[in-house]
Amino acid sequence: MSAPRKVHIKSYGCQMNVYDSDRMADLLAEEGFCETATAADADVVILNTCHIREKAAEKLYSDLGRIRPLKQAAARTGRRLAVVVAGCVAQAEGPEIARRAGVVDVIVGPQSYHRLPTLLARAPHEGRLVDTEFPIESKFDSLPHSGPQAVRRRGVSAFLTVQEGCDKFCTFCVVPYTRGAEMSRPVAAVLAEAEELAAAGVREITLIGQNVSAYRGVGPDGQAWTLGRLLYAVAAIGEVSRLRYTTSHPADFDAALISAHRELAALMPFVHLPVQSGSDRILAAMNRRYTRAGYLRAIERLRAARSDLAFSSDFIVGFPGETEADFQESLQLVDTVGYAGAFSFKYSARPGTPAAALPDQVPEAVKLERLLRLQAAIARNQAAFNAKCLGARLPVLFEKPGRHPGQLVGRSPYMQPVHVMADASMIAKTATVTITGLSANSLEGTLAADDSDPRRAAQGEPETCPG
Ligand code: 5AD
Ligand code: SF4
Repeated sequence: MSAPRKVHIKSYGCQMNVYDSDRMADLLAEEGFCETATAADADVVILNTCHIREKAAEKLYSDLGRIRPLKQAAARTGRRLAVVVAGCVAQAEGPEIARRAGVVDVIVGPQSYHRLPTLLARAPHEGRLVDTEFPIESKFDSLPHSGPQAVRRRGVSAFLTVQEGCDKFCTFCVVPYTRGAEMSRPVAAVLAEAEELAAAGVREITLIGQNVSAYRGVGPDGQAWTLGRLLYAVAAIGEVSRLRYTTSHPADFDAALISAHRELAALMPFVHLPVQSGSDRILAAMNRRYTRAGYLRAIERLRAARSDLAFSSDFIVGFPGETEADFQESLQLVDTVGYAGAFSFKYSARPGTPAAALPDQVPEAVKLERLLRLQAAIARNQAAFNAKCLGARLPVLFEKPGRHPGQLVGRSPYMQPVHVMADASMIAKTATVTITGLSANSLEGTLAADDSDPRRAAQGEPETCPG
């Protein structure tokens, strides 16, 4: 019997790519491949790329530069190393990658990667192949299901893609061009995948989509279900104790989604709600379809449904035409909302997007200086949020061993990593933890007295970070 062939997959960017990378691993597992953590001993290397900002795309070319000598070394020993570029850079720059990077064998877009095994089989005979079509058939219909072993290896928390693409056309964003128009998976397909994940031991599912709050999957009743309705159905799968969704759009919060936050105990009280800017002028130029007041109203409605809700966000600084006064409105919004955390980015002009052609591009030095000020405000809010958790009893879902012997790492409802001395049998269980310390961006705690016996620890009671 020959040794199994090995595939090394590197994922850049968002959770959608993490999900797609796992699906590519599943596809190649059916062809007899196992995964390897290093490119050096791989037979196939897949770079699953992100095109959202220029920096993310540049990483591809520097990584390809590192892979070239590995491919040459493999060839000297008579071994073939196939290099695949997948994801959004492949979609957007397929022909350019083919021209610039001779090391690449297959270029495959996010909607056609179900064809990867065929492309890999054809490449040695036909030379470099580019497949960046948006095929009529959905890749989801031909992707294999993850086996229970692969699911278990990936941990107790899993992503489940329910929606792809975006019709919102924010003027800075490449997603509508790289991932295409909005598409929602049918309710039955989502529920079947969620049930498989639960049966294999997954306890937390994050429903993901570029614009997940625009979910409109066809239900068993023939109607288009919203994300709110879908969340109720996934929450009914008993073994799934935690549910999350990302990324949502502030203009999409309907009554069903709000009431899901009020009524579903499994739906975690933490919402990633990108605002991008606090200035109405900039929000309009970004085509975000809401105002600062509208965004704050969405937050209020959610907090009215569940008072312990915490928020994170995405911000862009230095969008074309952004003045210091506009930026100040973003800065103030951070304090107004009191985010538990947020990502912030310098505006990056993306070819083909409307904002790239706008006058008044902001100089790089100004963008950097604003980014640093914004990040300081975000860090201050995050530290204040974490400090409020000190002394609280929080339910923690344990995920894996920690760095120190006898230690486990889990997550609070607010996604904070929590380090606790606890028995390894607690992995995949939720227990109440008293938060006793803070370090950088994580929490430390001890099992609450009634949860220190793993046999009695079942579902920790929810409590909020006070204040
Ligand atoms: N420049 C900078 N940041 C961007 N994002 C999207 N496009 C750009 C861009 N052109 C950010 C947004 C989005 C997150 C995923 O990436 O904040 O919410
Ligand atoms: Fe991009 Fe805007 Fe769609 Fe988000 S909502 S994926 S930022 S176009």
